[in-house]
Amino acid sequence: MKFFVDTAEIEPIRELAATGLLDGVTTNPSLIAKSGRDFIEVTKEICAIVDGPVSAEVVALDHETMMKEAEILRKIADNVCIKVPLTVDGLKTCKALTGDGTMVNVTLCFSANQALLAAKAGATFISPFVGRHDDNGFDGIDLIEDIRLIYDNYDFATEILVASVRHTNHVLQAARIGADVMTAPPAVIHALFKHVLTDKGIEGFLADWAKTGQSIL
Ligand code: G3P
Repeated sequence: MKFFVDTAEIEPIRELAATGLLDGVTTNPSLIAKSGRDFIEVTKEICAIVDGPVSAEVVALDHETMMKEAEILRKIADNVCIKVPLTVDGLKTCKALTGDGTMVNVTLCFSANQALLAAKAGATFISPFVGRHDDNGFDGIDLIEDIRLIYDNYDFATEILVASVRHTNHVLQAARIGADVMTAPPAVIHALFKHVLTDKGIEGFLADWAKTGQSIL
């Protein structure tokens, strides 16, 4: 399973990239606003830190303007992945861009039928929002299960990018289903490393080691 971080903050991206476990980055207009940075400038900086796909989202609603925005965004770096909303115009744009060899992430997916359409439009990634799905009384993980089944039925190459991940259990459930990618805020990724028994175990081993009076170095 690939791990993307869902942020436009440079420091957490650098920190996670240094672990060697980061496969990409996703941003959206809200995350860009939160960073307070210039969109093009910060995207360029992120693209230089990670080798994998960096999603940058268009904000136009019509196909022609989406194409113009995508043209500017894809010039930022080779690893830019254009993010488009799951609308008729978004999928039209997806089809045109992927036909040209550009990576496209179709975002704001809330149904398996929408995911089916995105795959037919040649999307590189489909982003179902599990957290927001849960918030609205649905089961976000059921949605991932349905999309996995449909994509496997037809051998679609579109990768399932589980988005709007709120906690480590979302990651576990998505991995069980075989989602290709998950994107989560830095705090959720850091939480994946943690276990109380790991901390306790280290504490115990170090206490016993100190009793030996030895050192490895
Ligand atoms: O980047 C899209 C998605 O991950 C947003 O998550 O927490 O705002 O629902 P959230």
